[in-house]
Amino acid sequence: MTAPFRIAIAGLGTVGSGVVKALTARGDDLSHRAGRALQITAMSARDKARARGFEITGWRDDPLALADSDADVVVELIGGEEGIARDLVERALAAGKHVVTANKALLAKHGLALAKLAEDRGVSLKFEAAAAGGIPIVKVLREDLIAHGVDAIKGILNGTCNYILTEMEASGRSFAEVLKEAQAKGYAEADPALDVGGGDTAHKLCLLSSLAFGTAPDLAHVAVEGITHITADDIAFASEFGFRIKLLGVARRVGDKIDQKVHPAMVRARAALANVPGAANGVLVDAGEAGSFFFSGRGAGEAPTASAVIADIVEAASDGDQPSPVFGRPAAGLAKLAPADSKAGVSPWYLRFEVLDVPGVLAAIARHLADAGVSIESMIQRGRAPGEPVAIVMITHETAQGAVERALKVISASDKVRSRPCMILMES
Ligand SMILES: NC(=O)c1ccc[n+]([C@@H]2O[C@H](COP(=O)([O-])OP(=O)(O)OC[C@H]3O[C@@H](n4cnc5c(N)ncnc54)[C@H](OP(=O)(O)O)[C@@H]3O)[C@@H](O)[C@H]2O)c1
Repeated sequence: MTAPFRIAIAGLGTVGSGVVKALTARGDDLSHRAGRALQITAMSARDKARARGFEITGWRDDPLALADSDADVVVELIGGEEGIARDLVERALAAGKHVVTANKALLAKHGLALAKLAEDRGVSLKFEAAAAGGIPIVKVLREDLIAHGVDAIKGILNGTCNYILTEMEASGRSFAEVLKEAQAKGYAEADPALDVGGGDTAHKLCLLSSLAFGTAPDLAHVAVEGITHITADDIAFASEFGFRIKLLGVARRVGDKIDQKVHPAMVRARAALANVPGAANGVLVDAGEAGSFFFSGRGAGEAPTASAVIADIVEAASDGDQPSPVFGRPAAGLAKLAPADSKAGVSPWYLRFEVLDVPGVLAAIARHLADAGVSIESMIQRGRAPGEPVAIVMITHETAQGAVERALKVISASDKVRSRPCMILMES
């Protein structure tokens, strides 16, 4: 009879608790699927005394001790790109243990080195929960959509941002008001910078990009813009034009280069990505001749994330002596593709200026845009109360990002322009 598969879990917070509860509740079926009994043998977190709603098994004060325990797999659910999480993962892999983690920050930064270590030691390093939570997109890119290659991935990968943008549209409230409410409801962290600044989306995007394109995770070359500057006006204008604003992570092959960026975009209201609601995630994969595929569902939270972690645990238990390469190809052969010039891609742009309502302002803006080669397709000017700035919104024809940015730099310098102009890519 096959020996039980012993599981050590570090981190018993939202995700760790979900994993313990699901392994306990559905242990028999999961063991049946794995072909051997799944057995939690050790646990660690910061505070032993905390009530967690389940029985603690094999407590260790020091999570690093899990790497030296008799476990077959160490499940890292502490988080953070450095410190205890990194030390534990390195130590467990070096000790010849499989590792399952949900830690996108760690893998985005150290993924290549950790993948090499895992493959050297002949063990698995699995991370289904690290990108898009419960949506099994890591497996899809690593094992399924491989025959024709991937041309592009476009995803809503951060539930906090999607919740905020959805609520702003539904209620007409400002970013700051909705963020505050999201924090009160537990949809946003007390320090929301990593989410609303786009950094969390960038972590996930570079993992998906690596799986899709056979490259090493390359966070340094992801251009990142968040949603903090999006106003209720932008959302209302987008709606008037038949669009919705979404924070997208986009990775695409451009010749022999890769373009990776995170930015708010206006997506046509009928498109699948525009209809990813609230805190959900959605990922569109353009898989060449195989066609386009769209995945959506819950990208975070206890049960969806635990679901992805458990799928990895069961897979590691069934892998036997032949773990598959971490990023789908042997780590030593992951390409270092040059980044594409992310400012070169053309699209229509939404531009919003807050200006003083005095003669000549509009003409000056139009002239600066024309000087940079930016031509305008349509324009709306909204009056405000006397003395208040006026919103001028323009939609450009297809133009390179670099050209629009050059024009906005000159326009921003005018004392008639009251705030930094806003530019948002419009999906054509
Ligand atoms: N939450 C989600 O929906 C979600 C989704 C996808 C991926 N993830 C990822 O999953 C990981 C865990 O996230 P989470 O939301 O479950 O975090 P969490 O609720 O904050 O839980 C973190 C756990 O780590 C423990 N911990 C923190 N610092 C520690 C230290 N120095 N030594 C020992 N234990 C320590 C905490 O112990 P105490 O309980 O004793 O304080 C807690 O049990 C992160 O990498 C996160 O990015 C989370």
